[in-house]
Amino acid sequence: MAKRAFISGITGQDGSYLAEHLLDLNYEVHGLVRRVALEEPQRRLSRITHLLGRITLHPGSLESYASIFHIFSRYEFDEVYHLAAQSFVAESFADGFSTIQININGTHYILAALRELQPRAKFYFAGSSEMFGKPEEVPQRETTPFHPRSPYGISKVAGFHLTVNYREAYGMFCVNGMLFNHEGPRRGHEFVTRKVTSAVARIKLGLANELRLGNLDARRDWGHAADYVRAMHLMLQQPEPNDYVIATGETHSVQEFCELAFAEVGLAASDWVRVDERLLRPAEVNLLLGDASKARRVLGWKPTHTFRDLIVEMVRRDLALYSGGLERAADSVGTGLGPTTPPSALSR
Ligand code: NAP
Ligand code: GDD
Repeated sequence: MAKRAFISGITGQDGSYLAEHLLDLNYEVHGLVRRVALEEPQRRLSRITHLLGRITLHPGSLESYASIFHIFSRYEFDEVYHLAAQSFVAESFADGFSTIQININGTHYILAALRELQPRAKFYFAGSSEMFGKPEEVPQRETTPFHPRSPYGISKVAGFHLTVNYREAYGMFCVNGMLFNHEGPRRGHEFVTRKVTSAVARIKLGLANELRLGNLDARRDWGHAADYVRAMHLMLQQPEPNDYVIATGETHSVQEFCELAFAEVGLAASDWVRVDERLLRPAEVNLLLGDASKARRVLGWKPTHTFRDLIVEMVRRDLALYSGGLERAADSVGTGLGPTTPPSALSR
């Protein structure tokens, strides 16, 4: 019988890639979507428009225990991937209260409802390299102490500990993915990689004339989201629950990302990038570099995209998008493009 999986955050970058991956593996895929997404499907469901005939969507919110309990009382799941979160670090400085409320309580609601209704479901928590924040060692591995630098990072540390606690206290199969930054053409436009590649495309096409950024010296270990969702699935196929760092083992600065992205269209970043101090964060995570040797050894996981591949793919997709030549709805996020949503995909 096909396995049944539930994905919170299915409309996000990772959720869309994970849904595709699980469908390829013949899973029955269900996802949580917010009511606003149902009311504005063309834009809010655009990353998963191409999957709508093959997945079941449940209206609900991380802010409502009742909505989560209701879904888990109707369907039994083999695997639950909890990806939904307020995921933008800068926004967590602007409104730390809502980030902490959604990310910590939302994780707790899902774990508590699972414990009550289906304690044998395997649970994945989307932990983050932001938990390391101001890291005490380089590279960061599973044993590196946490030192979060933002309300977002703090919320992920709490989610990590909730996940470990449900594993230890109730014997549930709960794992933490400690994922470093991962990107791709479906990345939200607020994150720096997509902000850069979309600006490169618009500048090249004469639609913009500068790119304003904050800290160009910040360094990240950037991988491709399609590689990272494979790791999420592998973590839930192991005989025992455990926590894993997922990273490429390379670190690059925002400046380097810009230089390669502009070079891809024959331009020089220095001619177009301006530093805007208003985009600096109150506390920065300066350097992230992950050691994924445990994942490589135990899961047999390794990344397949290079840093350069990632940038080239993102720049080319944004060029196609802004010149009106993009065909795939999944890559037209935030543009209002893409076919309408068949109501049959929505479960009530
Ligand atoms: P994303 O594109 O921002 O997607 C976030 C998802 O969470 C969206 O589906 C969003 O729904 C949903 N969501 C937000 N608030 C919600 C709420 N109150 N109720 C229900 N759903 C809600 O994020 P991502 O890049 O795919 O990341 C997935 C997860 O991995 C997140 O938890 C993120 O913090 C974590 N993570 C990401 C990275 C990375 O580099 N991408 C690295 C480490 C960890 P809407 O579409 O309705 O807004
Ligand atoms: N967003 C953004 N916009 N970031 C900028 C800008 C800008 O204009 N200018 C410089 N940066 C720098 C940020 O200060 C940060 O050091 C770096 O670029 C990356 O920022 P983001 O792309 O916003 O990602 P993030 O590293 O803060 O967070 C992402 O990765 C985490 C894993 O480490 C998100 O996906 C998180 O959800 C995830 O947990």
